[in-house]
Amino acid sequence: MKKRFWWQDAVIYQIYPRSFMDSNNDGNGDIQGIISKLDYLADLGVNGIWLSPIYVSPMKDNGYDVADYFDINPMFGTMADFDELLKEAKKRNIKILMDLVCNHTSIEHKWFKEAIKDKNSKYHDFYIFKDKPDDKKSSFGGSAWCYVPSLDEYYYHYFDESQADLNWANPELRQEIANICKFWLDKGCGGFRLDAIELISKDLDKNIFANGPHIHQYLHELNRNAFSLYDETLTVGEGWPTIDICLDYTRPEREELSLIFEFQTATLDWNSPKFSKYNPVPVNHSELKDIITNWQVGLKDKAWNVVFLENHDLGRTVTRYGNDKEYKVESAKMLATLMMCLNGTIFLYQGQELGMINPYFKDLDLYDDVDSKTMYHDLVETMKVMSHDDFMHGLLMNSRDNARTPMHWDNSINSGFNNGAKTWLAMNIHAKDINVANQINDDNSVLNYYKKLIKLRNSNLKNVFVDGYFERLSEFETHDDLFVYKKKYDDEIIIVIINLGQTELTYDQSLIKDKKVILSNYHQPNAKLRAYEAIVVMG
Ligand code: GLC
Repeated sequence: MKKRFWWQDAVIYQIYPRSFMDSNNDGNGDIQGIISKLDYLADLGVNGIWLSPIYVSPMKDNGYDVADYFDINPMFGTMADFDELLKEAKKRNIKILMDLVCNHTSIEHKWFKEAIKDKNSKYHDFYIFKDKPDDKKSSFGGSAWCYVPSLDEYYYHYFDESQADLNWANPELRQEIANICKFWLDKGCGGFRLDAIELISKDLDKNIFANGPHIHQYLHELNRNAFSLYDETLTVGEGWPTIDICLDYTRPEREELSLIFEFQTATLDWNSPKFSKYNPVPVNHSELKDIITNWQVGLKDKAWNVVFLENHDLGRTVTRYGNDKEYKVESAKMLATLMMCLNGTIFLYQGQELGMINPYFKDLDLYDDVDSKTMYHDLVETMKVMSHDDFMHGLLMNSRDNARTPMHWDNSINSGFNNGAKTWLAMNIHAKDINVANQINDDNSVLNYYKKLIKLRNSNLKNVFVDGYFERLSEFETHDDLFVYKKKYDDEIIIVIINLGQTELTYDQSLIKDKKVILSNYHQPNAKLRAYEAIVVMG
């Protein structure tokens, strides 16, 4: 067996701290809350936690607007709490990954405050200023330029105007970022998720916003000056790469990042010609199968895959890719199978292991997300290119808040997230039905199904689950909803048969004949493949 790094076999669980567990009943999740749930995570079988940002921040974008990279937001606790988290996680063999938000800072960061005091300050060159704005748009709506009266200049912000983009062309800034990384690695963190990392090198005059000319130089340098100085640091970048671009970031010999997320699989309902995620389209299953196949085959033996379906920026997949009405359990398990049988490092988002579904907030006031709000303002109120009702439908499916409602622990008040204080974002009304307490002792629950899958990935079949040769068996796919693939590692072979939809399908019985069924989301396979049925056989 090839030697693997710890993170290659790992299941990493993403925590959105504000919504995970509120230990002091102030309506916001916190670090002590996370500590109180570490046994739950250890029992689930996770090897690492990616913590969405917990740094000091005005929380305009829920922590993705950092005001101090070296301290903890009091909303979440103190540095002593964080140190305790590291220690307690380590006892359970769980590594902590920080979210490195380094494409931009909050405008409340001291660098920015200095930058706007004086054009001659060295911090002025830490950001991107211009005398006159052009027509570039922020990805959250509106202009990407914001006026600073004290300088009579405009600064560039790809995201919200409270998030000013950093100027990575400045070597001193790059050294500061390396210092931030070393600070957290010195504490014992296992690595980073790197926010919006493909944006750090850009050439705005040429309208190049991502994967700019110096991106690989900067990341190689950061790897040499920080990541590589520690043992097996995991770095996973957020990007929207093609396979070739991904290989440029993650082939080990390039010494840049360990992994980069690919978003094609998880955003197939955004493929609308207009208004993208706010005008969702049905997920095209042929495309889904092709994309998964391309990534599984495209990185094999060259780099390592990351497999994920959910995060804090995406609506819940049971709602978007499955059926959250009559087949919510079956489709949640089908999606679990789809994801967990693929090669690569698994990223699981809080609540996904329960099959959480979108909350269906019908009232605009229930949404908190800066993106949802600014885009509403832009598309509905200012440009008047979408009706209120159409935009609200987009929000029901794809507002980022769909993933951000507090976690469902039990049947008590606020589902055990806290002791009843008003939560920062409304609770999901489905919490009574979908929660940990209901599922933990039920052998047929989504939670226990995830646990089984995680156990399989750690069993003697580990190699074939994590790093087998993927072969799509399209000759057996007699319907667009039918996905059949085989994985092989030495003598180990598994075959995965999935019905991506709710139509009952016939399938070739030779696929399962004389084979051992190692997983099924119905009690056992029969002659037809039922709605969202998933079967994994061996041999
Ligand atoms: C990333 C984060 C998202 C954030 C944005 C700006 O896409 O995942 O939540 O709003 O970057 O930091």
